[in-house]
Formats: sequence, C-alpha cells, structure tokens
Amino acid sequence: MHTLKITAIVGSLRSESVNGAVARAAIEVGSSHAEIELFSVADVPLYNGDIEQVALPAAVQALHDSVGAADGVLLFSPEYNGSFPAVTKNAIDWLSRPPRGWEGTPISMVVTTPGVRAGASLRTHFEAIMAFQPVRLFPSLGIGTCGEKITDGELSDAVARAELGNFVASFADFCR
Ligand SMILES: Cc1cc2nc3c(=O)[nH]c(=O)nc-3n(C[C@H](O)[C@H](O)[C@H](O)COP(=O)(O)O)c2cc1C
Repeated sequence: MHTLKITAIVGSLRSESVNGAVARAAIEVGSSHAEIELFSVADVPLYNGDIEQVALPAAVQALHDSVGAADGVLLFSPEYNGSFPAVTKNAIDWLSRPPRGWEGTPISMVVTTPGVRAGASLRTHFEAIMAFQPVRLFPSLGIGTCGEKITDGELSDAVARAELGNFVASFADFCR
C-alpha cells in the first residue's frame, strides 16, 4: 500500500515552540499511519501581490509543491489573541492563491496552548475561513495546559500522546 504523506506546517518560528514539539511528537506517534514531513515556513515572505505578479519566491513555490505532493496537510499552530499568528495565516494566504497546491487536499489543525481552552477560538476561526477553500476539512485537535504535558521540548504526557496518535490515525483514514 502507498505510504500516506502528510505535510506538517508549524505556525511558530520559535526554537522552543510547544507547537513544534507537538508536530515532532505527531511524526513519532503517527509513524505507523503516515509519513509526516515538517515544512519550515521560516523563509516564506509576507504575502505581497507585487512579488506574486513577478514570480513566486522559491520558499512559496516549495510550499505549494510540498502541499501539492502530500495526501494531507496538518497545521500545528499557536493561538494569538484568540486567532491566527501572522505566520500561520500568511502560509494559508499564499496557499489560497495560484497554483493552489491544496486543491482537494484533506487539511486540519492542531493547536497547543498553555491555557485550558486549547485554542478553541482559533480552531473556530480556522474552520470558518477554510469553508471558502477547495480543501477537505477534518475536525481540529486542541491540546491545552501544555506546560504540564511538555518536558524538555518533548510531548511527554501519555494521555496527550495517545490522543495525538488517535487524531493522526483518524486523519490518515480521512486522507485515504
Ligand atoms: C502575541 C501573543 C498572543 C497570544 N495569545 C494567546 C491566546 O489568545 N490564547 C492562548 O492560549 N495563548 C496565547 N498566547 C500564548 C501562546 O499560546 C504561547 O506563547 C505559546 O507558547 C506559543 O506557541 P509556541 O510555543 O508554539 O510558539 C499568546 C502569545 C503571544 C506571543
């Protein structure tokens, strides 16, 4: 059977990012269901229609290519002020433009936060804007109180790891 390929985009540029830690954990706990590859958006410039008109920047083309070649896309994003960090929204904005590498692609989001609401507000906003995109939306996952679940940059909490594993397994089924 063809190995399912998932592109993971982390919406935080911080080296100690808790969302990055959860993305790395997803690679581990999801390894029997899919090959999850991290795509770094560190080099993706802010969306600018003038630049787009001339030529797509290499990092933007690489983002479209990675997403276009994937069977599914997972965004691992912090919640900022109840909504999208600019980094996450910027990646979405580029992907919503031609060549729209994500046409028909399954997509979901995992939001990890220190608070108990587990990014409920961002996850609602994500679902609202994705309704206008030609993607197949899968219900998001929220991981709250991450301070108790992540130690030394690793998702160490057994329950959270199991939940993440179940999420990746269900998402992989959805992608098939
Ligand atoms: C500008 C800003 C706004 C934030 N707003 C929220 C928020 O609305 N909800 C929340 O749970 N955490 C919020 N936080 C805290 C982040 O969840 C926390 O900094 C988290 O570690 C960021 O994710 P990262 O570690 O992956 O970079 C905010 C942080 C920043 C810097």
